[in-house]
Amino acid sequence: MSTASDSHSVVTRNLTKRFGKFVAVDNVSLEVRRGEIFGFLGPNGAGKSTTIRILCGLLTPTEGTATVAGHDVARDPERVKLSIGYMSQKFSLYDDLTVEENIDFFSGIYGVPEERREARKTYALELSALAERRATLTGLLPGGYKQRLALGCAILHEPPVLFLDEPTSGVDPIARRDFWDLIYQLSERGITIFVTTHYMDEAEYCHRLALMYRGAMIALGTPAELKRDLGGFALLQLEVDDLAGTINALEREVGIEDVAVFGSGLHIRVKGDLDARPAIRRRLREAGIEVRLLEPIEASMEDVFVGLIEAEERKR
Ligand SMILES: Nc1ncnc2c1ncn2[C@@H]1O[C@H](COP(=O)(O)OP(=O)(O)OP(=O)(O)O)[C@@H](O)[C@H]1O
Ligand SMILES: [Mg+2]
Repeated sequence: MSTASDSHSVVTRNLTKRFGKFVAVDNVSLEVRRGEIFGFLGPNGAGKSTTIRILCGLLTPTEGTATVAGHDVARDPERVKLSIGYMSQKFSLYDDLTVEENIDFFSGIYGVPEERREARKTYALELSALAERRATLTGLLPGGYKQRLALGCAILHEPPVLFLDEPTSGVDPIARRDFWDLIYQLSERGITIFVTTHYMDEAEYCHRLALMYRGAMIALGTPAELKRDLGGFALLQLEVDDLAGTINALEREVGIEDVAVFGSGLHIRVKGDLDARPAIRRRLREAGIEVRLLEPIEASMEDVFVGLIEAEERKR
């Protein structure tokens, strides 16, 4: 009989974590395929890191189950730890060790067999583009290089599943792009990547995404699916001088679902089957607000998440 865990690297069923009465992870069920880049998004405190810590065998679930690389995280956390790489939100290389010393140190921690160590070190140095700077103190490296070295160190033991908790936070956009090239390389080699991020451009790079909100998973799909599911709504971009006045004027307009500030303008979510533009123009004219631009646009990932989270808040 084939089960989900044969073809899936991560499987959770009704996974729940409570701290006292507080529910940090609420009944999360998901499956991540081998080689998939799975993005975990959500506002601060949504339960992303807590879920990852459970999946890494570092915290036990209060309810529900999870398997990683076929091992149950509650029953067999030690086997789980051998099967995963983990870069925590505050990942720590030793700043006062050289690049090479960090690699040697983590090779020891992860129990890389003696005969594999030289090959794995070479690999980590190439991955981080630090072969020429192997004797440099890690603390002196630019952020982007440190992140790549931390990634190299997290996979010295060739784990099939990799957990990256905000691996690129605080890194400049070019270094982030380079880091994602590495993530793609690993995925192509069949490594499963479970990654959290706050950056919307990075969300677009994931094969599939889950959106977490107050511990619960409120959406799951490919970036294209999530955009399509803007759910019968269309999006208009509106440029005006008076943002607050405009929001006020449009609040009760029929057919307008939501008005949100985006950059210097507004994004208006309208029922997809009617062209709301004439009504919007009329209402703003009545309010004495000049319309500089009003046109349909493609939803961005940020529109999707703002929409989903607002819908969730309205339910409460
Ligand atoms: N050991 C703990 N004891 C009590 N509460 C905790 C504990 N660990 C986490 N929490 C709470 O659980 C909630 C979820 O935290 P978590 O770190 O998983 O969020 P997150 O989605 O990773 O947020 P961020 O984007 O800020 O990293 C938070 O409200 C946090 O304060
Ligand atoms: Mg976190």
